[in-house]
Amino acid sequence: MATVADAVALFVAHGSRRPSDTRTSIPLALLSPRMDSVQLGSTGTRVSEIAFGTWRFGRTDDTGTQEIGRERALELLDAYADAGGQYIDTADMYGNGLAEEWIGEWLETRDRDQFVIASKVYWPTRNDPNGRGLGRKHLRWSLDAICDRLGTDYVDVLYTHRWDDDTPAAEVMRTLDGFVDDGRVHYLGSSTFDPNAWRVAKANELARREGYEPFTVAQPRYNLVDREIVGNYLDMCDHYDLAVCPWSPLAGGFLTGKYDRESAVPAETRAAGDDEFADRYFTEKNFQLLDVVRDVAAELDTTPVAVSLAWLRRQGSVPIIGARTTDQLEENLDAATVSLSDDQFERLTTAGSEE
Ligand SMILES: NC(=O)c1ccc[n+]([C@@H]2O[C@H](COP(=O)([O-])OP(=O)(O)OC[C@H]3O[C@@H](n4cnc5c(N)ncnc54)[C@H](OP(=O)(O)O)[C@@H]3O)[C@@H](O)[C@H]2O)c1
Repeated sequence: MATVADAVALFVAHGSRRPSDTRTSIPLALLSPRMDSVQLGSTGTRVSEIAFGTWRFGRTDDTGTQEIGRERALELLDAYADAGGQYIDTADMYGNGLAEEWIGEWLETRDRDQFVIASKVYWPTRNDPNGRGLGRKHLRWSLDAICDRLGTDYVDVLYTHRWDDDTPAAEVMRTLDGFVDDGRVHYLGSSTFDPNAWRVAKANELARREGYEPFTVAQPRYNLVDREIVGNYLDMCDHYDLAVCPWSPLAGGFLTGKYDRESAVPAETRAAGDDEFADRYFTEKNFQLLDVVRDVAAELDTTPVAVSLAWLRRQGSVPIIGARTTDQLEENLDAATVSLSDDQFERLTTAGSEE
């Protein structure tokens, strides 16, 4: 195992990207006994086995409360990186740009090249007819704005946040391909809410025909209770060798086990601040699945969080966790050490598939 001295020697040999940066930056992976890195699908880039998502940075919930403010955001990024994490997920619309701004501010204290940063484009960012979607004008303007806020020359993964039916796939793929040619984007990703596999397949077939860069990363919603992508969409990911990086891997906190059938919803939780959460997740079918998650957690002497993330990791995916506090983050990162037996994996899979 590499030591801190090895890490410092490596740093001295390679130096920092910014000549003005006098801080000693140590390659994270060498200091990281807690998190391994994995290959990002068929790409040549390695990422932490658990990514950290910044959706709630600067976001105001349905009660008007800001969920994660600047100071907490910087603490969470520190805690993730200090645990060896280097795969950070954001989007131009998170906190109306605040998430990227705060990541950019934080990156000034780190070596940007040690991190794999993913962002997304699609949702409205300006109040004019071309201030939204995947048309060439908005894509180019958005990538400039993303790099400005992040304070970086490039993003590692650029996702289309949703598909844009008004823009021809050829225009989208050719524009994105240009970003990769320019070196401003390393890989293209497709993020989705609906499990319409054909949209990604169509874009990748077009890219193959025209010699454009294809999508190599997929970001669908996927967790033990939200399984819309099982079958068609996951088969498509498999066919095109796409890395699968699921969002909401804990179903927004439902799979942590902090909600139950009888008790009132605890204050300062996502369920308390999101008017649709209870309708979506508090069903008898989901609570029955949670009972199985709790049983497996008891067998392994671990938490429902660890079991839920282990179920995703076992399928080769890289979950993007959200956490509101550093305690939650620590608990979630501990999940990297848990693995399920074949029997436990089967029981969890079957429990969620039953009607
Ligand atoms: N591509 C897309 O369209 C899309 C959509 C959504 C998300 N994402 C990405 O996926 C990331 C994760 O999504 P998510 O936040 O929904 O993920 P999640 O991990 O399913 O839910 C995170 C929430 O669960 C609760 N929680 C997490 N760990 C906990 C713990 N140990 N104990 C108790 N509560 C805990 C916290 O909420 P409370 O404390 O508030 O209850 C936290 O904010 C986002 O940040 C974003 O990067 C992408």
